[in-house]
Amino acid sequence: MTRILITGAGRGIGFELAKQSIEKGWDVVGSVRSVDAQRKLAQELPQMAVLNFDVTDYPALEKIANAFHSPIDILVNCAGIITPDRQSTLDMDFEGFAKTLEVNVLAPLKVAQVFLPLIRESQNGRIINISSQMGRMEFSASDRIAYRASKAALNKVTQGLATDLQGKGVSVIAMHPGWVSTDMGGAQAPVTPQESAAGILKVAEGLGIEETGKFIDWDGTPRSW
Ligand SMILES: NC(=O)c1ccc[n+]([C@@H]2O[C@H](COP(=O)([O-])OP(=O)(O)OC[C@H]3O[C@@H](n4cnc5c(N)ncnc54)[C@H](OP(=O)(O)O)[C@@H]3O)[C@@H](O)[C@H]2O)c1
Repeated sequence: MTRILITGAGRGIGFELAKQSIEKGWDVVGSVRSVDAQRKLAQELPQMAVLNFDVTDYPALEKIANAFHSPIDILVNCAGIITPDRQSTLDMDFEGFAKTLEVNVLAPLKVAQVFLPLIRESQNGRIINISSQMGRMEFSASDRIAYRASKAALNKVTQGLATDLQGKGVSVIAMHPGWVSTDMGGAQAPVTPQESAAGILKVAEGLGIEETGKFIDWDGTPRSW
């Protein structure tokens, strides 16, 4: 049975990924970052295992990964933030910028590292980093530059990890989930969390080592970096 680990599973795209993975009959493990959220998600989706860690809390991550003994087929690094409020190149909240880099870039790499031994135990280990088209280098828009820079950096980290794991049989890709109607995307976004999650899981199911190192849209279309 496919085992999937999803960070940020309490709401938004992560929640929908968890829900639809359960519907596929997969063994689903999701993370949230408070006891209350853990209790709530366990009530909403009782078929899944809910872990409690902040993705930036490295000691907690290491402790949880060390206590986890089952192979992981798919890791989806979904947790992310789009703060701070003030994030223009001409007027930047630098602490907020650093936090965005910590959550959106460093943490996905750390999560991948701590769970890598278990991902390598899978016959087809896959790591999917949820990025954004807002980080594409060809896209010169400058609003929300902290977020854009974080996703551009996540893309580079994804590509590097894919290169380093290619010979070890673990596939690594970045995905743009679409502009999705979540708390982050807002109500006017054209893609529903259900559509986005279904597309991401379809790509995840078909992902093999020949696809590693790519940036792929939620509908399966390859993107340029
Ligand atoms: N929505 C879009 O249009 C869109 C477009 C492109 C890319 N994305 C990307 O898609 C991913 C999911 O976005 P979304 O729209 O579902 O966002 P969302 O509704 O705002 O949900 C964000 C999730 O990340 C979790 N999270 C944030 N910081 C965390 C931390 N330090 N530790 C653990 N969990 C943390 C949140 O947990 P809490 O509930 O505890 O806050 C929540 O579960 C993000 O990486 C985002 O950048 C979204």
